[in-house]
Amino acid sequence: MPAIIVIGGQWGDEGKGRVVDLIARKAHVVARYSGGNNAGHTVVNEFGESRLHLVPAGIFYPDKVCVIGNGVIIDPKVLLEEIDDLQSRGVTVEKLHISSRCQIIMPWHLMIDRLDEELRGKGAIGTTARGVGPCFADKVFRAGIRMADLIDPEAFRERLSFLLPYKNAVLEKLYGAEPLSFEEVFSTYSEYAAKIAPSVTETAELVQDALERGETVLLEGAQGTLLDLDAGTYEFVTSSTPSSMAAGAGVGIGIGPTQISKVVAVYKAYQTRVGNGPMPTELVGEEGDTLRERGHEYGATTGRPRRCGWFDAVASRYTARLNGLTGMVMTRLDVLDQYPSIKVCTAYRLDGKVTKTFPSNIRALLRVEPVYEELPGWQKETKQVRAFEDLPPQAKAYVQRIQELVGCPIDMVSVGPEREQAIIINPII
Ligand code: IMP
Repeated sequence: MPAIIVIGGQWGDEGKGRVVDLIARKAHVVARYSGGNNAGHTVVNEFGESRLHLVPAGIFYPDKVCVIGNGVIIDPKVLLEEIDDLQSRGVTVEKLHISSRCQIIMPWHLMIDRLDEELRGKGAIGTTARGVGPCFADKVFRAGIRMADLIDPEAFRERLSFLLPYKNAVLEKLYGAEPLSFEEVFSTYSEYAAKIAPSVTETAELVQDALERGETVLLEGAQGTLLDLDAGTYEFVTSSTPSSMAAGAGVGIGIGPTQISKVVAVYKAYQTRVGNGPMPTELVGEEGDTLRERGHEYGATTGRPRRCGWFDAVASRYTARLNGLTGMVMTRLDVLDQYPSIKVCTAYRLDGKVTKTFPSNIRALLRVEPVYEELPGWQKETKQVRAFEDLPPQAKAYVQRIQELVGCPIDMVSVGPEREQAIIINPII
């Protein structure tokens, strides 16, 4: 079977890790292809609760090959900490393979991310401060260090000798910061490199070989389409290239579009966002606080409270179409269990006119008012339900209405964080 993409349909944090952890059971290879350790994929299974930032969510199955593809940027310290943590809990990481083409997050990227946010002041993006934007910027600017350079001591010395004086000039002259010491950076990162090197390989070839053998490859997206550089709410987006859209998956792993058979996007049953930027259905005050507490909506990477609001079908239809979805997964339906009624945004009112178009102009998006449809709540616990027909009728109606508004079949609904707390409607694999 060819490759299947699992992607975020909103502003990230939709539960992609949770979905991949469940469906990886039937896959052979699980691969991350974009983003960096700004991602935080929460998985709850027999190993307890894990927050994965770089390692694919297939890692909990000892027989699955896990790949970090070329589109991912790597902070080596974070990767090693994550591997140590997994190993200390009995998870085997022997089948983890890392692309030699991954870009490396260096200490200057971490500094610049923080310093640049300070300089932007009120216009700050609200990044995760993990060095992601500056690292992707350097990739495009052809001033990055790749894994292949890092693990080759001569190449690393040469690359660092060239880049560090230039980065130090930027740090000192532009940001007024202290310069970094060559010897310190070289020795620390050389130690990381020695530990990571045995897992580094030509991952594109590994994935292509698996596909040629007829194996199933799951491509685990990071962030969400509304955070995509092109499709998202620019400039309040992440910097991943290849993108947080399905179209970027092939680029970020090294396969062509003809090898992709399914694109499934994960959506929460409501809307959340961390960081700044427009969010038309955001609930402020008590209503937002209630939803946040019911959903325990705090960032898996930064711990920041997430902004919460009703499901935005305008934004969701926009992301469904951009990704050419074959199916969607709705997560966290159980979080809505207690509501007597639930709102869904079906259109925007913009300057007196009703529209179903997701505006590209950020000022327009800040001005839109959501047009809501109100559906009856079910006020019954759903976390123990495992078959769609066993859901309360109002919950079924809610799922079906969202399916209709987004224009895409719902393959699965999750009703809790644990692996088995899911209702499979159409098996994804
Ligand atoms: P950056 O990716 O750290 O540069 O952050 C840019 C924007 O994307 C900020 O609004 C972050 O909060 C958001 N962001 C980045 N990664 C994630 C994620 O995995 N989940 C949710 N939001 C994210």
